Amino acid sequence: MGHLGILLTIGTLLGLAQSHMFMGNPPPFRWREVQDIEELGMPLNGFPGRYGQQPFPCKGHHLDIDGPGGIPGATWRAGELVTIQLFDSTNTTGATMNNTHGTVHSGGSCQIAFSYDKGSTWVVVQSYEGDCPRVREDLKGQVTNLQGTNQDFTFKVPETFPSGERVIVAWTWINASGHKEYYMSCSSVTIEGSGEPTTITPEGPPLLIANLQADANNAPRNDPLWSKCHSNEETSVIFPQRYRGLNPVIRAEKVLKFEDFPGRDDPACASDNADTLAALRRGFNMSTTERESSPPDRSFDGS
Ligand SMILES: *[C@@H]1O[C@H](CO)[C@@H](O)[C@H](O)[C@H]1NC(C)=O
Ligand SMILES: *[C@@H]1O[C@H](CO)[C@@H](O)[C@H](O)[C@H]1NC(C)=O
Ligand SMILES: *[C@@H]1O[C@H](CO)[C@@H](O)[C@H](O)[C@H]1NC(C)=O
Ligand SMILES: *[C@@H]1O[C@H](CO)[C@@H](O)[C@H](O)[C@H]1NC(C)=O
Repeated sequence: MGHLGILLTIGTLLGLAQSHMFMGNPPPFRWREVQDIEELGMPLNGFPGRYGQQPFPCKGHHLDIDGPGGIPGATWRAGELVTIQLFDSTNTTGATMNNTHGTVHSGGSCQIAFSYDKGSTWVVVQSYEGDCPRVREDLKGQVTNLQGTNQDFTFKVPETFPSGERVIVAWTWINASGHKEYYMSCSSVTIEGSGEPTTITPEGPPLLIANLQADANNAPRNDPLWSKCHSNEETSVIFPQRYRGLNPVIRAEKVLKFEDFPGRDDPACASDNADTLAALRRGFNMSTTERESSPPDRSFDGS
């Protein structure tokens, strides 16, 4: 690697070190033990030079669900309004968020989904279209990395939800500007709903999986999954009908260009598509020992 290459790599690492977000409340899997906050914050596309594309769902962190790492971080009642909080790369949220280094990539679109069966199946409860995460108040609708200090996102747990122990709640994010990415943070919660605790995920819309590759060694454009399921630059995704969620979509008023998801209703982009899930798992060892092994040496071509 020449000097220019080294400089570009360092520049990329510094840039990205400041540019990721994650769901910090309820506390995500590995919240206490993780050494490097980037591991929580980086997108599933990976972190060039350090981590390759990560497994869906939850970067594999959901495999902690039965152990001490899966102790629920919150108890939510069916029918209740609850709030998740997004954190930035300084590991803080709200007024303490470091607003000098932005991370929000002009917002984008987010989903909140639940899995009662340890991450095998997902039901989307809430979609937020545009300005999720929120950009700074005076920069709404613009290309910016500067974030708002309010990163609380409130939604209603469906009244029909059954009780569940160690239910996984996931936050996903398709960012609006910069490289096309797909973020996913997962936490364990208790749901107090109807009946005895169940391990069957309620029926409903699947998650929209975007911007990942069936084979991370491909150039994105040559990859069969990416080519069907990617978002476009500088747009805020409008979720296709089949992915929208059980609650009415919450749509921001002033956003960076709304655009229908280019893959429309293609079932390949869904968290219930067996072929897609198999492709996203291939090449990764999904055992709980994964975190001790070295990260896959396939770096995401972010171009
Ligand atoms: C993030 O913040 C939480 C709460 O203050 C703390 O417990 C945790 O150790 C922090 N993680 C890192 C990697 O700094
Ligand atoms: C924000 O970042 C700057 C520069 O890295 C640092 O000096 C400052 O302490 C940070 N502030 C907070 C509230 O974390
Ligand atoms: C998403 O964020 C990354 C940095 O984390 C940025 O490089 C990229 O351009 C953003 N994606 C889109 C579609 O803007
Ligand atoms: C994958 O996981 C299995 C089961 O834990 C383990 O026996 C095997 O050695 C692992 N393989 C690799 C390549 O890490």
